[in-house]
Amino acid sequence: MVNLLSGLFLFLLSMHCFVACLASNTKNITTDKYALLAFKSLITSDPYDILANNWSTSSPICSWVGVTCDERHNRVYGLNLTNMNLRGTISPSIGNMSFLVILDLHNNSFGGQMPKEICWLRRLKFLRFSMNKFVGEIPAALGELSQLQYLRLGINNFNGSIPQSIGNLRRLKLFTVVKNMFSGLIPQTISNMSSLEYVGFSSNYFSGTHSFDIKCVIYDISLLHFI
Ligand SMILES: *[C@@H]1O[C@H](CO)[C@@H](O)[C@H](O)[C@H]1NC(C)=O
Ligand SMILES: *[C@@H]1O[C@H](CO)[C@@H](O)[C@H](O)[C@H]1NC(C)=O
Ligand SMILES: *[C@@H]1O[C@H](CO)[C@@H](O)[C@H](O)[C@H]1NC(C)=O
Ligand SMILES: *[C@@H]1O[C@H](CO)[C@@H](O)[C@H](O)[C@H]1NC(C)=O
Ligand SMILES: *[C@@H]1O[C@H](CO)[C@@H](O)[C@H](O)[C@H]1NC(C)=O
Ligand SMILES: *[C@@H]1O[C@H](CO)[C@@H](O)[C@H](O)[C@H]1NC(C)=O
Ligand SMILES: *[C@@H]1O[C@H](CO)[C@@H](O)[C@H](O)[C@H]1NC(C)=O
Repeated sequence: MVNLLSGLFLFLLSMHCFVACLASNTKNITTDKYALLAFKSLITSDPYDILANNWSTSSPICSWVGVTCDERHNRVYGLNLTNMNLRGTISPSIGNMSFLVILDLHNNSFGGQMPKEICWLRRLKFLRFSMNKFVGEIPAALGELSQLQYLRLGINNFNGSIPQSIGNLRRLKLFTVVKNMFSGLIPQTISNMSSLEYVGFSSNYFSGTHSFDIKCVIYDISLLHFI
């Protein structure tokens, strides 16, 4: 009897933890809303008042400019704020937008480092931070974004070396880092990436020689279409 009771007690205890832990891990559209508000709070300049006027807490986030939602999961699917002349840094909260597939901040003045929390976004397919003012090293955990197809970091001030883990991105089709301050060796694992069609490494401080068996190597930064 004692064993039965203590067994029952342990069972209830574990159920309680199961339910409580599940609830605290459950993300929903409200998680996305907090993440976007945190993102907005670190924008220091919005000259056209795009987010200031449009990202209003009284309207649903899926109607906010640059935000698209996945109707099936009712979560944010895309954040596209290209060409808006925004200045600021990227809130680590972005890592909580767990259904994000597209993150496009091309052609703004975002600075600071790429938050490592971006590597939590396991559904991400398109990451474009090109033509901004980002600095510092890119997180090695980027190599865990197994769905990534486009990684476009050209025309920034990123430095350090390209992490070896990039070679794990089996679905990557386009990888550009042109016109940054990257140094060190370009990881040889790049040659093993079967989906890779375009790479751009020019205008950095890489050392050593490298040769790639890749369809198109971009040398010309005027090919903005690929940056
Ligand atoms: C989101 O989840 C929280 C608990 O984590 C809950 O209180 C809230 O009602 C949920 N919101 C929606 C819109 O489902
Ligand atoms: C925000 O912009 C979107 C797209 O341009 C528009 O549909 C929506 O009505 C705007 N919302 C507000 C509150 O201005
Ligand atoms: C983001 O929006 C711009 C401008 O509307 C568009 O050219 C670009 O293709 C979009 N990015 C993605 C990944 O769809
Ligand atoms: C970048 O965005 C600005 C508007 O903020 C626009 O005037 C400019 O033409 C864009 N540059 C490119 C290369 O798209
Ligand atoms: C992610 O959301 C949780 C609440 O759901 C919060 O406690 C945590 O601080 C958030 N993480 C970041 C990096 O903002
Ligand atoms: C990268 O730049 C930052 C300043 O933005 C500096 O602190 C750091 O030492 C640099 N790292 C390398 C490897 O050059
Ligand atoms: C590329 O893949 C082959 C076969 O899987 C492996 O033997 C080789 O070590 C890999 N090379 C690099 C640089 O990762």
